[in-house]
Amino acid sequence: MRRPITTFDGFRNAVSAYRLPVVLLAALELDLFTVVGHRIWTVPELAKKLRVSERGLAVLCRNLAMAGVLLKQGATYKNTRLGGTELNADHPAYRGGYLDLIKTHWHDWCRLPESIRSGLPIDHDVPDSPEWRKRFTWAMHHRTLEIAPAIAAQVKLGRAHTLLDLGGGPATYALAFLAQNPRLRATVCDRDAALNVAREVAATHKAGRRLSYLPLDFTKDAIPGTYDVIWYSNVLHIYSPEDNQAIFRRALAALAPGGRLIIQDALLHDREGLFPADASLFAVSMLLFTTGGDTYSASEVKRWLSDAGFNRVKLLRIKKATEDWEDGVLEALAPESPPKTNARRTGSRGSSNSH
Ligand SMILES: C[S@@+](CC[C@H](N)C(=O)[O-])C[C@H]1O[C@@H](n2cnc3c(N)ncnc32)[C@H](O)[C@@H]1O
Repeated sequence: MRRPITTFDGFRNAVSAYRLPVVLLAALELDLFTVVGHRIWTVPELAKKLRVSERGLAVLCRNLAMAGVLLKQGATYKNTRLGGTELNADHPAYRGGYLDLIKTHWHDWCRLPESIRSGLPIDHDVPDSPEWRKRFTWAMHHRTLEIAPAIAAQVKLGRAHTLLDLGGGPATYALAFLAQNPRLRATVCDRDAALNVAREVAATHKAGRRLSYLPLDFTKDAIPGTYDVIWYSNVLHIYSPEDNQAIFRRALAALAPGGRLIIQDALLHDREGLFPADASLFAVSMLLFTTGGDTYSASEVKRWLSDAGFNRVKLLRIKKATEDWEDGVLEALAPESPPKTNARRTGSRGSSNSH
C-alpha cells in the first residue's frame, strides 16, 4: 500500500476493504469448505446441510465464487483446489491451526481502541496457558510450512554443524534447515508447550532425528551450549528494544567464534519507518498482544547488533514471493575471538507477552 489515501473516496474504499475478509471469515466460521468437501451442491441442499438460510447462503456462495475460492457452475457450487484441501478440515493438508488464529484475530483487532487507550494488550491480565500456547504453536506451523523450506534453501549455512532455533515454536524452520543441510544438527528452544508441538511435527519428518529440544525462557536465562548459527525468526517483534538487545547479548555468548545470528522479522526499510505496509500493520498486532513488542527498522536493529558486539551486519536477499517478510532477513557475525561478556550471568527484566 504505497498509494496514500488523499480523497474521501480513497478513504471510503480503504475502509470498505473489510467486506471481503468478513465474507471469507463467515465461510470459515460456518466450516463451509469442509462441508462442501468434494461434492457439487445446489444452494438449497447446502443450506440444509449447514443449517443456514438459503437466502444468506446464496449471497455468501456468490461472493466466494466471485473471490475465486468456490467454483460456480449454473446453479451449483463446488470447492476449488484450495477450498478442498488447505481450507477443508477433512483433508490432511488442512491448515486449521492458522485459520483459527485468523478468526480470533479478527475479533481482537476490533478491540484496537481499547489497546490504544491503555497502551496494554487487550487481554493483558490473562496468563499464557499451555493450551493456548499449543494452539498458537500449531498456528505457526500451519503458517510457515511452505515458506520455511523456501527460505532454508536460500539461507546458506555453509559448514555450520549446529543451529539453534531460538523461539523456534513448532521447529518448522529448524526442520527445514535440517532437511536442507544433511550434516547439520539443530536445537529448538522454546516453552514446554511449544516444544511438545515441535516433537509431534518432528516425528513426521525424516530430519527430526537430528533435532534436540531446549525448554528455556531466554529473556531470563542464559542460553546453554555453543552454536554455529542462531536462527531468531519472528521473535524480535514480540519484545521491546531493551529486551531484544539483552537477547542479542545472550545469543552472542552462545555463538562459536565467527558464528552467525540470523534474524527474520517484519523490518521497516524507509527513512520514516512506515514501509513495507505489512510490517507497519504488524506493529498493531504487537500492541494488541504484547506488553513491549513493535516492528523495527532494519537500521535500528543493525545498530543494536553492533552495540551488542556483532560484526558485519547485513541484509540477506531472499527471492520475492518466497519471503516471510519483505527484505526481512538480517545476518550478524560473532567476532572470531569473542569479547568478555556478562550476558551469561545477567537477566533482563523479562516482559510478559502472548506471542
Ligand atoms: C511468533 S512465534 C515464531 C515461531 C517461529 N520462530 C517462526 O518463525 O515461525 C514466537 C515463538 O517464540 C517463543 N518465545 C517467545 N518468547 C520466548 C521466551 N522468552 N522464551 C522461550 N520462547 C519464547 C514463543 O513461545 C513462540 O513459539
